[in-house]
Amino acid sequence: MIEFKNVTLEYPVTRTLALDDVSIGVGKGEFVYLVGHSGAGKSSFMNLVLKRALPTRGEVRIGGEPLTRYRGRRTALLRRRIGTVFQENLLLEHLNTQDNVAFTLRVTGVPQREWPARVASALRTVGLEHKKHALPLQLSQGEQQRVAIARAIVSDPPLLLADEPTGNLDPENGREVLKVLQNVHLRGTTVIVATHARELVETFRHRTLTLRKGKLVRDDPYGGYAL
Ligand SMILES: Nc1ncnc2c1ncn2[C@@H]1O[C@H](COP(=O)(O)OP(=O)(O)OP(=O)(O)O)[C@@H](O)[C@H]1O
Ligand SMILES: [Mg+2]
Repeated sequence: MIEFKNVTLEYPVTRTLALDDVSIGVGKGEFVYLVGHSGAGKSSFMNLVLKRALPTRGEVRIGGEPLTRYRGRRTALLRRRIGTVFQENLLLEHLNTQDNVAFTLRVTGVPQREWPARVASALRTVGLEHKKHALPLQLSQGEQQRVAIARAIVSDPPLLLADEPTGNLDPENGREVLKVLQNVHLRGTTVIVATHARELVETFRHRTLTLRKGKLVRDDPYGGYAL
């Protein structure tokens, strides 16, 4: 599904080498962790997949097609097919849980008659059906993060990118969010999680890619945190 071929990313101006000759493939339906110290290149990897940054050298392909061939409207369509979850996820504070989740559907142009079933399914995946009428301020941080995940998956994107999704959460909420990401994976979605959370990577084992100063130094099929 995603292929990096000798990808180097050097940010202009500062000339920082964020990724250094990275070659990797992530197949459809995989669950993959991306670990590495701060500045190792995890978010840069995500930015390349989203075409928010272009490689200085090498090639990124999605579904077999080089990202350089996606232009204009196709780039927008590509991004719509990728769900994203970050450390901070601003929910619309005047909308309740189900309306925050449905908001994505409005933006992506899914017919309105499909909304209720889609929203219900996404809320079931994140275990928040009972909070569908709550406003963001009435939810805990962990619950808000789960709403953000529901929002990211409600249009059934084939790929979900999560960058430090547990960064602001205590260990228990972090585990809940990880379980939810695993549920998303069970729906058939390819999931990539960038994280510092050693405990989670060791508890919920999946293929783990380790970056060090922009280089891919490990690709462990059974997971584990080795920094
Ligand atoms: N827009 C940018 N312009 C210039 N340099 C950048 C930019 N974004 C990131 N960098 C640099 O690129 C390197 C990789 O950064 P990146 O954000 O990918 O790391 P990370 O692994 O996500 O780190 P963290 O765990 O702190 O989020 C770092 O040295 C960073 O300072
Ligand atoms: Mg980062």
